Amino acid sequence: MSKIILTGDRPTGRLHVGHYAGSLRGRVALQNSGIYDKIFIMIADAQALTDNAEQPEKVRQNIIEVALDYLSCGLDPEKSTLLIQSQIPELCELSFYYMNLVTVSRLQRNPTVKSEIQMRNFEASIPVGFFTYPISQAADITAFKATTVPVGEDQLPMLEQTKEIVRKFNSIYGDTLVEPEVLLPDNKACLRLPGIDGKAKMSKSLNNCIYLSDTEEEVRKKVMSMFTDPNHLQVSDPGQVEGNPVFIYLDAYCKDEMFAEYLPDYANLEELKAHYTKGGLGDVKVKKFLNNVLQEVLSPIRLKRKEWEKDIPAVYEILRRGSLEAREVASQTLSDVKNSMKINYFDDQALIAKQAEKYAQ
Ligand code: TRP
Repeated sequence: MSKIILTGDRPTGRLHVGHYAGSLRGRVALQNSGIYDKIFIMIADAQALTDNAEQPEKVRQNIIEVALDYLSCGLDPEKSTLLIQSQIPELCELSFYYMNLVTVSRLQRNPTVKSEIQMRNFEASIPVGFFTYPISQAADITAFKATTVPVGEDQLPMLEQTKEIVRKFNSIYGDTLVEPEVLLPDNKACLRLPGIDGKAKMSKSLNNCIYLSDTEEEVRKKVMSMFTDPNHLQVSDPGQVEGNPVFIYLDAYCKDEMFAEYLPDYANLEELKAHYTKGGLGDVKVKKFLNNVLQEVLSPIRLKRKEWEKDIPAVYEILRRGSLEAREVASQTLSDVKNSMKINYFDDQALIAKQAEKYAQ
């Protein structure tokens, strides 16, 4: 069986270092590993509209931001198909049939949807489209017969939902859809980077993100203002590394070689952590190191972005071509689905002949 990747992001803002550590960096590595037959990366604008119906312009503007972030991180249109979700109408048709296989109570139990409803104060008035987006996400994944879905931890419930739909569909209508596997980052620190303010998640609305497209100075300022251990008041105080955002970012981003380059008093992160825990190591020193680490990661991304920004029409052309190619694949899956469901009346000569016979007497 071929190995196919599908993953994507909602275009509601520029992508940040949480996206990069959690998924983007891994995708580029998977792309370059050469072991996948096909890689589809989706800009999920239709899903973004499920909770932004009144801000279509925000979604529209962020499509190019996300595409630029993708390209500057090293996703290569020669190797990966970049597409825009709304340009594949087959996904809506698939969703409509999948909706019959999912109960309302099952959707209500989805932990990601639950917490998003809370975050958006949707409790009293959840848009139906938003409530059902896990079903539409199952359509995204199955339309491309994806075997592997590299995502962040918050997407696990979506993958569970997709697998249930696949199993149910195949058991009712016969083997048609492919059950996908989730791929999480190996490095646990990468599962969810906290905001620079120490809040559980980086989020545009909380204004606590470091963006891939931030300037060098913006990154430096953000790093130097980061929340650390609130009880580490004096340099001599023992500090805590668990739950300390500065150390979580280092866990996600620093490599031993970076110590030799920027902080040669320590051989690796373990030594730095031990000193911090014992006391006698100031936050400023650690933050300066983190800044160097992040700049090393981000500066090639920033440079590449500058290049692509000079040719925006080419970026749209990449998305247009990717969407066309993706549509062909999704259309084949939709046709398989309709055949399995036997709603392919006009292609079904046996059906027509049988009905004719029934009325022939
Ligand atoms: N729900 C994902 C997010 O919020 C975006 C997304 C849409 C997606 N469709 C997908 C991710 C399919 C993986 C596979 O980031």
